[in-house]
Amino acid sequence: MELAGARPHATRGPAGGLAIGLLYSSLLLNAIFLAHHFLLSPSRPLLRDDDGGGSSCGLTWSLQAAREAEAVAAVECSGHGQVFLDGVAGEDGRPGCECNSCFAGPDCSLRTPNCTADADSGNPLFLEPYWRRHAAASAVVFSGWHRMSYTTTGRFQSVELERQIRRLHRAVGNAVADDKHLVFASGSLQLINALVHALSPDATAASPPSRVVAAAPYYPSYRSQTSMFDGREYRWAGTTALWTNASRTNSTDGFIEFVTSPNNPDAMLRKPVLCSSAAAIVDHAYYWPHFTHIPAAADEDIMMFTISKPSGHAGSRFGWALIRDDKVAERALDYLSNSNMGASRDTQLRMLGIVRFMLANLHGEDDIFGFGHGVMRSRWLRLSAVVSRSRRISLQKIMPEYCTYFNRVRQPSPAYAWVKCEREEDGDCYEALLKANIISRTGVQYEASSRYTRISLLKSDDDFDVLMERLQELVDAEKHDDASNGSSSM
Ligand SMILES: Cc1ncc(COP(=O)(O)O)c(C=O)c1O
Repeated sequence: MELAGARPHATRGPAGGLAIGLLYSSLLLNAIFLAHHFLLSPSRPLLRDDDGGGSSCGLTWSLQAAREAEAVAAVECSGHGQVFLDGVAGEDGRPGCECNSCFAGPDCSLRTPNCTADADSGNPLFLEPYWRRHAAASAVVFSGWHRMSYTTTGRFQSVELERQIRRLHRAVGNAVADDKHLVFASGSLQLINALVHALSPDATAASPPSRVVAAAPYYPSYRSQTSMFDGREYRWAGTTALWTNASRTNSTDGFIEFVTSPNNPDAMLRKPVLCSSAAAIVDHAYYWPHFTHIPAAADEDIMMFTISKPSGHAGSRFGWALIRDDKVAERALDYLSNSNMGASRDTQLRMLGIVRFMLANLHGEDDIFGFGHGVMRSRWLRLSAVVSRSRRISLQKIMPEYCTYFNRVRQPSPAYAWVKCEREEDGDCYEALLKANIISRTGVQYEASSRYTRISLLKSDDDFDVLMERLQELVDAEKHDDASNGSSSM
């Protein structure tokens, strides 16, 4: 119904005056009704004094949780630590600061002198500042009765999250997802065995067990997971180097080859080594613009992805596989259903918010890939500058390459440095770095030579700064040694 007062040129007679009077009293009554509904109704309690005078906007049960989440997030910990909701409670009943390595004290303000740099794990904390900056957009609130069921709309997987992940692949251009099944897991670590199982013959079948292989240096969990579940269906059969002759004679039936691209540890884009009769599981954990150029959308039959590296939410334990073949997807789903009935529904909800936010900001000022590439590129530049002064250690060579996502040539920004010790006496590179107070991950774990060791570049800014200090000292000591050797020989 059109309001009388809304007419631009209405003439105001006695009837018009009455209508305006009625309108004002109706507006007043509405205002009184709304004020009563939102501020005085017993089912919507008034904000308490400690609400800071803000409006509850009709919120009831979520206010307390929101207040707690904001309270812990607001604690500064001197910029070298965090307070978490589930942190160990102190005497005051509140969780205290959890300090980054090499920092201590109740507010993490004390720097530990001569601290050892821990560059071992691939903990993707380089993205924590990004999510701190976008705290509001990435927060998730849900009720105690949210998705209590084993299933989500009759399945173990959220249909909406599937849709958003497909959109993400399409928008980033790193994988063709539309013609494949999407299978969720609790981290891509769980997918390793799920996919090996899916590709292997039944335990009762007459065919021999599958042989699972990877080319060195390779991500060690392919070996440890496969060996752990070794059975009638499959067994770990070592590196591809042992089987490349078999490959030439075309007898690689029953082989499953893990391929990591870009590779962990050396960041090289890789293809399967064995010929096409072997099945390949291509792990694209790092095939995102933070870490590598994207030459084209990956389109292998079986691909693995994880949220841990693109968004940094390793603690949520969420990964997915893209699988072309119906039967293989069915067997993988069967494994996951028997193993844990699919990824946690709470995690799936959190991932939905995270993926949506990433998607909404692609190519913009708050693009997570722009941010991630910026951090990782500057770390690689700083590391390369220090190592270039050394004759004792060297890094893998990575060239700038054209990236379809950024639509330009991008500078290298690997997740890991694959360090080689060049001196004869440094045959165990891990030990050589440990003597310089740097914890790395030995090349032996990747079935490579002990002359190599891996340094993680993914951790927090504090971790990286300490690593740079220790490396700087290592290189300075080398220069000092060179100088004193030179002067003594003169
Ligand atoms: C190559 C590769 N694949 C898989 C994973 C495991 O990822 P998630 O955290 O999803 O288990 C990692 C973790 O570092 C990795 O480097």
